Formats: sequence, C-alpha cells, structure tokens
Amino acid sequence: MLSTPHINPQGVPIAETVLLPGDPLRAKFIAENYLDDVVQFNKVRNMLGYTGTFHGSPVSVMGSGMGIPSISLISHELLHIFGARRLIRVGSCGSFQAQLKPYNIIVAQGACTDSRFIEQFQTPGTYAPICSWNLLKAISAEAERQGIEIHVGNILSSDIFYHFDNSVNERWARMGVLGVEMESAGMYAVAAAAGAEALGVFTVSDNLITGEKTTSEEREKAFTQMMELALPLATLG
Ligand code: HPA
Repeated sequence: MLSTPHINPQGVPIAETVLLPGDPLRAKFIAENYLDDVVQFNKVRNMLGYTGTFHGSPVSVMGSGMGIPSISLISHELLHIFGARRLIRVGSCGSFQAQLKPYNIIVAQGACTDSRFIEQFQTPGTYAPICSWNLLKAISAEAERQGIEIHVGNILSSDIFYHFDNSVNERWARMGVLGVEMESAGMYAVAAAAGAEALGVFTVSDNLITGEKTTSEEREKAFTQMMELALPLATLG
C-alpha cells in the first residue's frame, strides 16, 4: 500500500481533485458538511484528509498546513504518488486594496512570492506561478451562474506574516496585487512541474490597508460562498 512521509492512506483512495484548506480541522468540517460517502485517508501529523463525493463526483479534502514548505510537500505527494491531478486551495487572505472588503472572494490568477522555493526549478529568469486556465474559466462561469462576485488577479504568497518593515505591503499593492496569503505560489509551481492543474480561492479575512476585519457572520457567509464555487470544480471532466 502506498504511503509517503506525510500521507498514509492505508488503501483509502484519494480523488483526482483535492481541496486544500490550510487548517486540517477545516478539512474535517468540509468533509462532514459538504461531502457524501466520506472516508478518512490521512491523520499523519494531524494533517487530516478525507475522500468523499460531491454530486456523485469523487473529491478529497486535506489540510495543507501553513506556508509554502507545507503546502508544497503535500501537493508533491498528492500529485506524484497518489495520482491527484487538480489541487484547489480554499483559504483566507489579507487584502492589499482598499476596495476589497473583508468577506470578498479573491481568485488567484497569479501568485507572486518572496519565497526562494521556486528557485529550485532553475528557470533562467523569474518564473511566474499562475493558476490553471481551465479551473479559472470554470470558477468564473460558476460565479456568474450563482451571482457571486469574485475578484480575479495577482496575489502574494509570502513567507513572512510578521514583517520587520510593513512598508513592503505598499509596494505589492502599487503593483496591483490584490492580497496576501502564504501558500499558493508553491502549490502553483509544484502543480506546473507535475503537469497538473491548481487554483487558489480565498475569502478576505482582513484589509491590511484600511484595517477592516470580518465579523463572524460575514466570515461564515463568505466561506459558504467560496465552497459553493470551489466544490463544482470537482465535477469537471
Ligand atoms: N498575511 C498572510 N497571510 C494571511 C493574512 C495576512 O495578513 N491574512 C490571511 N492570511
């Protein structure tokens, strides 16, 4: 039976589409509340993973952990060892743009980074991690169909949560970067190197320019909307 240093499914199948929230307990919540026929496939390091179905299509959901190192090793093992082909990060991000409010939904078309992780690929210039066009097209069609507003653009996947010098945020903001999280650039690069698809979808948890934060009701509503956009991606052929 296949196992890796971080995933030991003990024969439980992992679907081709895997949703990756940062928090493993969020993975458990998603499995219990949105999927049918759920079976747990991982508990190594409490990085809980589950496989189930959504509208009859197989889908797995697993915690990615925080930061590029964690999501990248999980992505690598899912894609190279367990046959996953489509990774969808569902997370939260800080907003760099005054007009992007807490609870708004951002889809990361591109993911800039201050991490050195992608240097390993040794491209002779700056590699630009981008999402899958197939998944981006599908989520924007789904958003239109459901009447949910999404904001599509560049984000920053940063290694740094607590900055020594906060003025760096402003320079990303001036380049039109919508918000900041800590994982997607790693997931996009690992997926690209594996010839697979990836997409990051986020609810804005706080605005780093205006200081606005979400209320718990807004957070709940935004999370539900994000899941209702992300889950139908598991039903694509
Ligand atoms: N920084 C990095 N990641 C985040 C933030 C942030 O401010 N908010 C939510 N995820």
